[in-house]
Amino acid sequence: MRTKIYYTGAVATLLLGIAVFWHSSLVAGPGPKNAQIERGKYLVSVGGCNDCHSPKIFTPMGPIPDTTRLLSGHPANSKLPQVPQGVLGPDQWGALVSGDLTAWVGPWGTSFTRNLTPDVATGLGSWTEDIFIKAIRTGKDMGEGRAILPPMPWPEYRKMTDEDLKAIFAYLMSLKPIENAVPDPIAPSGERMPTMKSRKK
Ligand code: HEC
Repeated sequence: MRTKIYYTGAVATLLLGIAVFWHSSLVAGPGPKNAQIERGKYLVSVGGCNDCHSPKIFTPMGPIPDTTRLLSGHPANSKLPQVPQGVLGPDQWGALVSGDLTAWVGPWGTSFTRNLTPDVATGLGSWTEDIFIKAIRTGKDMGEGRAILPPMPWPEYRKMTDEDLKAIFAYLMSLKPIENAVPDPIAPSGERMPTMKSRKK
């Protein structure tokens, strides 16, 4: 009788242990998914994605990423100053950039950094890992649309391994989704240059 109780207790403890381990490996533990997300976070950090894709807060030493809305892209509600005439040219300045580094003006027109959070309507929420890899490798919007404009450094990022790009995508998908409808870029002619996604709307 007594052994039976001990036995049941041991089995219950063992099952509880397995359950706790299983749960922690899913939520925050050292499981392979979590290691992949951590790797992606590291690559996004050293790859400088926040410099361009995160809204900023302003300090006496310059802009720093706003940690409450990391990687959510050029803030849709921000007002850009008028671009001064005659300052850009082959022998003049090459580009202008907004104070938060999320909007860029150059020979290609005006580009706005995209929302990389998993928000479905305005971010990468409807993208798959394959679309993400294809976009970075080909330099085309979603891997098949128009050319991705400067200064997005895809010609360098395309050299990353599939494993690294998958890790970056996994990290981006683990972020808090932030709703921010980044405007489409503007061509030098003044026309909007739609993305695959904005064209579907
Ligand atoms: C120097 C600034 C800059 C840096 C650094 C940068 N980006 Fe971008 N990125 C941009 C701009 C600008 C766009 C918008 C281009 C456009 O609309 O054609 C963009 C667009 C994108 C897109 C959308 C591509 C598409 O299919 O339309 C993805 C995804 C992206 N960036 C991911 C990243 C990741 C990941 C990193 C870091 C590893 C990164 N970016 C670093 C400026 C930057």
